[in-house]
Amino acid sequence: MSVQFAPPSPSLVLKSEEIADAAAIEALLDRAFGPGRFVKSSERVREIADFAPELSFCAFDGEILLGTVRMWRVRVGGQAVTFLGPLAVDHEQRSAGVGGQLVQRACDAARAAGDAWVVLVGDPPYFERFGFSAVDATGVRMPGPVDQKRVLALRLQAGAPVPAGEFGPV
Ligand SMILES: CC(C)(COP(=O)(O)OP(=O)(O)OC[C@H]1O[C@@H](n2cnc3c(N)ncnc32)[C@H](O)[C@@H]1OP(=O)(O)O)[C@@H](O)C(=O)NCCC(=O)NCCS
Repeated sequence: MSVQFAPPSPSLVLKSEEIADAAAIEALLDRAFGPGRFVKSSERVREIADFAPELSFCAFDGEILLGTVRMWRVRVGGQAVTFLGPLAVDHEQRSAGVGGQLVQRACDAARAAGDAWVVLVGDPPYFERFGFSAVDATGVRMPGPVDQKRVLALRLQAGAPVPAGEFGPV
């Protein structure tokens, strides 16, 4: 698939998430999602998943945090998957390609680590550009109410079995 991204800002740097980034990330997520962010069914997945800081990235311009993507290792049925989210870019920094670069970097890191699938809950018109598809996620059962059309999966390794079933810890 041919993917068009906005050209990177020369001052944009993506770094693996570090413990010292946590406070700025929490503040950015509060601004992006508001108080409802902890009631999402994705949050129920994260509660049973293992955080993967080496696959989670922060976008910085100097000391300023512009965006964040977090990745988690979890299981769907018998298949190990990597769960993506939250992804957020600060309001005034949007539509400059930051979100796209964060998704691409996180998925590239997961592929390089040998992970088989990335699963997320998000808007298909945004995530389909990276190859995510609802078709491959029809068997994924979220732990709570969700529009199944927003459950998306990206295959990272050829031949990996399609994930199906409920979420469980790795
Ligand atoms: C989704 C989000 C991370 C995108 O960040 P970004 O840095 O603006 O992304 P990019 O610059 O790579 O892409 C921007 C393009 O995607 C489009 N886009 C953004 N969100 C979209 C959505 N939900 N559905 C469809 N298109 C979307 C924008 O309109 C823009 O299009 P344009 O290039 O034609 O102007 C950002 O809008 C955000 O933080 N939103 C709030 C949190 C959220 O919804 N996160 C995703 C679910 S976990």
